[in-house]
Amino acid sequence: MESAHTPEKVLVTSAWPYINVTPHLGNLVGSVLSADVAARYYRLQGEDVLMVSGSDTHGTPIEVEAMKEKITPKALTDRNHAKVAELFRRWDASFDNYTSTESPVHREFVQQHMMKIYQNGYIFEKETEMLYCEHDQRFLPDRFVEGHCPHCDYEHARGDQCDRCGRLLEPTTLNEPYCIICHNTPVIKKTKHWYIDLSKFAEPLCKFLEENRQISSNAKAFSLNWIKEGLKPRAVTRDVGWGIPAPFPGAEGKTIYVWVEAVLGYVSATIEQCQRMGEPERWREFWFNKNAKTLYFVGKDNIPFHTIILPALLLASGENYNLPWNVSATEFLQFKGEKASKSRKIGIWIDEALEMFPVDYWRFFLIATRPETKDSDFTWEVFTSKINADLNDTYGNFIHRTLTFINSKFNGEVPAATKLDADNEGILKTIREKVEAISSDLEAARLQSAANTLISLSRVGNQYLNEKEPWKLLKTDPAKAGTIFYVAAQIVKALAVASAPFMPSRADELWHTLGLSGKVTRWDEAVTPLEAGHKVGKPQPLFHKIDADAKALDDLLQKNREEKSKAA
Ligand code: MF3
Ligand code: ZN
Repeated sequence: MESAHTPEKVLVTSAWPYINVTPHLGNLVGSVLSADVAARYYRLQGEDVLMVSGSDTHGTPIEVEAMKEKITPKALTDRNHAKVAELFRRWDASFDNYTSTESPVHREFVQQHMMKIYQNGYIFEKETEMLYCEHDQRFLPDRFVEGHCPHCDYEHARGDQCDRCGRLLEPTTLNEPYCIICHNTPVIKKTKHWYIDLSKFAEPLCKFLEENRQISSNAKAFSLNWIKEGLKPRAVTRDVGWGIPAPFPGAEGKTIYVWVEAVLGYVSATIEQCQRMGEPERWREFWFNKNAKTLYFVGKDNIPFHTIILPALLLASGENYNLPWNVSATEFLQFKGEKASKSRKIGIWIDEALEMFPVDYWRFFLIATRPETKDSDFTWEVFTSKINADLNDTYGNFIHRTLTFINSKFNGEVPAATKLDADNEGILKTIREKVEAISSDLEAARLQSAANTLISLSRVGNQYLNEKEPWKLLKTDPAKAGTIFYVAAQIVKALAVASAPFMPSRADELWHTLGLSGKVTRWDEAVTPLEAGHKVGKPQPLFHKIDADAKALDDLLQKNREEKSKAA
């Protein structure tokens, strides 16, 4: 009898991309792709999973881009949202809800939530000074202004953050500020804003972070440090027209600060999805049931918004929301040692990648080199060697030789294990151990290690065949040869299941080749043996070796890029 498993609620989320531009591989790996691997894994474990995110459509980057393109922000975000959502589908991202901050459910939730916090006494209004461009007749918050960073003197620091030293900034502290629309020097002008008093949450935030067992120690240390330096009130309103209108009395004409509303999107996207499923109250199980897990996959520059701002906003409602169970933050993916930059043609964008290689090549490669503890660097050499050495020569080759042999020498039937000895038993045990290791890595968001353990399991398989040379035993001891292929077939099955979170379409293809029906649906199938006599199909190569060198791949990328820009 199987023991009944009570599904746990797992809400898997990824940072909401700004959609002024198409995401590049570095944006994807830490957010959507990581979240997808986790969501797929928990579904295979039989948990009750919802995976949500959406397009971050407000904020100054969108307004700036819309001005450049001479269209309205709404037209820009509608167009780009459709484009990005389609690209995520092509990357096999298994969102239950990929929505947008323009969704009416989101707008209404944000306004209600902010009013609740206001009524709870955590919001106050204050006169303040902001940069104002007299030429454009507008205030210049966040990315509408650039200047010299007061800390590191970087010349293109933005009003909200410096890209060189990473510090969060206030626009009025920039030296030599200029308006990014007209490049004139702004003046200082009085205005009024609404602030959340973050210091009131210092204690519960410390407690939350100290008690949390999943959040990585550096993200924790960084956040605790920020709290210990003293949390200051943060403005939750902006003087910009594109955004969600602030609901506070007297705040007509102001909108909610983009970060404050975007992080609330995690809740509103859950509400929206449950409404669509016809179960409007079900979202509460993810957000209030204390056994539910909420996971956030983000880039490292997003850490404080998920470890401090979001938790503070949830605490301020007084409603006992679940605070993040894990915030898994990745470092940056660089390209040949540099930051991605569209204008300088550095980096690879997620549409371009799929024009060159199948999605599972990229998914595996990106997770196997996921920048978990330090920045990682994309080069075509590393890409080619991961695909050729790991996927093709190790994983693919082991599967291919095993299934080819079973087809040619055993009539396509898994042979019986009539001569199991200690060595064979040892391999069967290794399968269970490696599958278990992959599970615990995935549950701890160590995705890179999980992907590499998958390859190491196929390496074990190859070494096993090389050592045992079962082809030599076919004549002299066919039972022993059969036993070895029985064991090898079990490795192949384990690989099919354990690869499903990383390479879902290749995994299903292999599942089918193994003569199993449907798709990979349960993680425990990884260690449920194929029985003797089970009929497997003829293998097709799962991967193809890349023989182009780095220069040729670069040229191809540039050529595709030029053709696309000509067509546009
Ligand atoms: N749009 C932000 C970025 O690209 C991320 C927003 S995450 C959210 O850096 F939580 F606020 F949604
Ligand atoms: Zn200006």
